Amino acid sequence: MSQDKDYNQAILEAPEDLFYRFPLSLVHGVPLMKPIANNWEKIENFLARPDDLLIATYPKAGTTWMQEIVDFIIHDGDLDQANCAPTYVRSPFLEISSPPPIPSGVDVLETTPSPRMIKTHLQYKLVPKSFWEKNCKVIYVARNPKDIAVSYYFFDLMKQTQPDPGTWEEMWTILGWGSWFDHVINWWEAKDKHQILYMFYEDMKEDPKREIYKVMKYLGKKLPGEVVEKICQHTTFKAMKENPMTNYSSMPSAVMDHSISPFIRKGEVADWKNHFTEKQSKRFDAEYEKRMEGTDLKFRCTI
Ligand code: A3P
Repeated sequence: MSQDKDYNQAILEAPEDLFYRFPLSLVHGVPLMKPIANNWEKIENFLARPDDLLIATYPKAGTTWMQEIVDFIIHDGDLDQANCAPTYVRSPFLEISSPPPIPSGVDVLETTPSPRMIKTHLQYKLVPKSFWEKNCKVIYVARNPKDIAVSYYFFDLMKQTQPDPGTWEEMWTILGWGSWFDHVINWWEAKDKHQILYMFYEDMKEDPKREIYKVMKYLGKKLPGEVVEKICQHTTFKAMKENPMTNYSSMPSAVMDHSISPFIRKGEVADWKNHFTEKQSKRFDAEYEKRMEGTDLKFRCTI
């Protein structure tokens, strides 16, 4: 835990100009932020432990929500555990590599006691091999790309990234399509090769309790009905939005400015309808159809 405290402290004390959108650099053909690419050898050689649990997502797919659900399940619905530290401390981010003095995700994880819950946004092919060698469990959460595009756009705004992201469509055209598609499809195709539970944000919204039971079954956990009920209550959108341990309000405003947009923002399926014109929606659908041709992976943009 001492490293976790260091991490929190280092973030809070870092000079404001440490944070901006980093240039991208290719790692095995995948564009990653430069500090991550520079730290790649360490990330690639990360030593997984058999009881590690990896939560993998494309950004904005519901990572934080799943992190909370899993943490509650592992700890039998214990509120004290959930409230002991922010989500990003209880569940370190594997590949994050900020400039010094902030310790990298790998540094933090090396001193994190087992069982570790680890977050990653890495594509399937970039996940350190030791996770597969140790047969670790992985939960992957996917979300429809229209809502991802909007959510990501507001996230970019709140992170005050430079250059300015422009419109959501401009941002998504540059950053989104290729990387989102490769992410969801490659994880989808890998799901039967390893212990990977592939979940959907839309299903979680439709019936959170059903999906919590699905995660419990996967983790081999049996909990009394009232504990499951408690987990449902503490992981609702409203509860997580108000909870300083889950809403990222403990990050300095130079990293995330919640007055521009809160991290736990809208939490809906089909918020894209408030941001897409009919023309944009048609353009998006045409691109989606083209990319998804031939796969049996299907997304729901409404429920
Ligand atoms: P919106 O921007 O559409 O609101 P991530 O954690 O992967 O960055 O994903 C963030 C998205 O998940 C945000 O989407 C956020 O509001 C949503 N989210 C977080 N907690 C949620 C919850 N308990 N229920 C529903 N959506 C949630």
